[in-house]
Amino acid sequence: MISASMEKGNYRAVVLLLMVAYFFITVFNTIPPITNRFVPKPKRVSQPVESSILASQQTITPLTNTKHFLVSAFMDQRVKGFDVRIIGIFRRDSIHPLHCIFFCAGFLSETTSASVLVHSDHFGFPFGATDVLCSKPDNCNATHVTLLTKQNPVNISDQLWLPIRNRKTHNKETRMNFTVCISTLFGDYNNVLQFTQSLEMYKLLGVNRVVIYNTSCGPELDRLLKSYSQEGFVEMVQWPINQYLNPSKGWNFKEHGGDLQYFGQIVTLNDCIYRSMERSRYVLLNDIDEIIMPYQHDNLNSMMDMLQSQHSNVAEFLVENHIFPKKHFEPSGRFHLPRWNKVPGVNILEHIYREDPDRNIYHPHKMIVQPRLVEQTSVHEVLTKFGQRFKVPMEVCRIIHIRVALRGSLKLEQLHVDKRLWDFQEKLIPNVDKALRRAGQLREEEQS
Ligand SMILES: *[C@@H]1O[C@H](CO)[C@@H](O)[C@H](O)[C@H]1NC(C)=O
Ligand SMILES: *[C@@H]1O[C@H](CO)[C@@H](O)[C@H](O)[C@H]1NC(C)=O
Ligand SMILES: *[C@@H]1O[C@H](CO)[C@@H](O)[C@H](O)[C@H]1NC(C)=O
Ligand SMILES: *[C@@H]1O[C@H](CO)[C@@H](O)[C@H](O)[C@H]1NC(C)=O
Repeated sequence: MISASMEKGNYRAVVLLLMVAYFFITVFNTIPPITNRFVPKPKRVSQPVESSILASQQTITPLTNTKHFLVSAFMDQRVKGFDVRIIGIFRRDSIHPLHCIFFCAGFLSETTSASVLVHSDHFGFPFGATDVLCSKPDNCNATHVTLLTKQNPVNISDQLWLPIRNRKTHNKETRMNFTVCISTLFGDYNNVLQFTQSLEMYKLLGVNRVVIYNTSCGPELDRLLKSYSQEGFVEMVQWPINQYLNPSKGWNFKEHGGDLQYFGQIVTLNDCIYRSMERSRYVLLNDIDEIIMPYQHDNLNSMMDMLQSQHSNVAEFLVENHIFPKKHFEPSGRFHLPRWNKVPGVNILEHIYREDPDRNIYHPHKMIVQPRLVEQTSVHEVLTKFGQRFKVPMEVCRIIHIRVALRGSLKLEQLHVDKRLWDFQEKLIPNVDKALRRAGQLREEEQS
């Protein structure tokens, strides 16, 4: 009985549904939508501006109709005459006039002419770090920018747009004191122990953030860096330069060949300075096997307070590089810890012998800069800046650079014993253990 009445109900419902459907199909020539049946469809705007904007999600963006690449765009109103600086990688023999166009919170701006400045340090490579300066029309709250080869392009939707960073209105990040910029990891670099020790040493010295550009790295280092970026100390910037160019593994075109110096090192250092400009008081430009070490202060904060009070308008502090050859080991083996044996890489605490720099030849420095006072940087010096340069005396600060010997002919007796790193061992060793354990590089029972 019950089932019979259900069947009857079902039958009635089906008939009703069919009738409704038939009504819609014949009267409106359309299948009725399931929801919002009686709400009229919104009117379709012929070319909605928002949907014509395609923001680039990559760190390297090919520029339509050119051989160039765009990396990032920053609000930069420190100098009259332009508002936005775009950092790019340009083919130097193919520079033609370009036009800037802005997306102004809802509409497209008129174009303005771009000024293209290839950095002077390109070391002869076909491609070089390049700044493009754009001035923004009035009444434009620009959020995105891109470059056009023609003032009136046929089809604007071919273009990828760069978000404009460092727009002060949206900057809620807490202010940092020190950021370290590490340019381009590549190959299967897997020096996990030295990497961990350096990062933990930076932390003890007061560094708040380490920005690392990554083309590729070894599997254990990959795990370590993912763990550090989860924690927030490391900021990874993916840098797939090898997908667009044939990057050189050296710095000199004549010697090493390729399209671009050292995997785009100069481009990444400039990008890092600008991305740190609004959030970090100082930026340290050094490699991961280098530690900028105060020799009279416990940390970078107190050292910079002293230096800056003596040299108030200095933008660029040059720090001397000192090589600690990794072939010489400290003889007691005090810090040769068995639990680190299976961790790939160099143990910096075992290398205490320091070369004297050969002062008869060019001796490259690394830098601590005030990012707001820098316009363009190279690797061993700032190219253009709004302040002065100061060479920090080696008694105050120098770089501990543990690597293959630079002056390999020097005998052990000719090197200086320098145990500055040992002053930090009490905190450094447990912190390194903790970081290695967190990244799964140390077994639980192997911890201190
Ligand atoms: C730009 O943005 C500011 C703050 O959000 C606003 O007060 C101003 O009216 C905007 N100007 C234009 C031209 O949209
Ligand atoms: C403009 O370019 C887009 C994306 O390349 C394409 O889908 C569209 O059909 C083009 N429009 C015209 C008018 O050429
Ligand atoms: C920056 O340094 C000052 C001391 O000079 C310190 O009080 C402050 O906490 C530091 N900020 C960060 C984010 O470490
Ligand atoms: C570095 O880049 C390589 C290649 O894209 C990727 O496989 C790896 O996961 C990246 N590592 C980190 C820590 O970002």
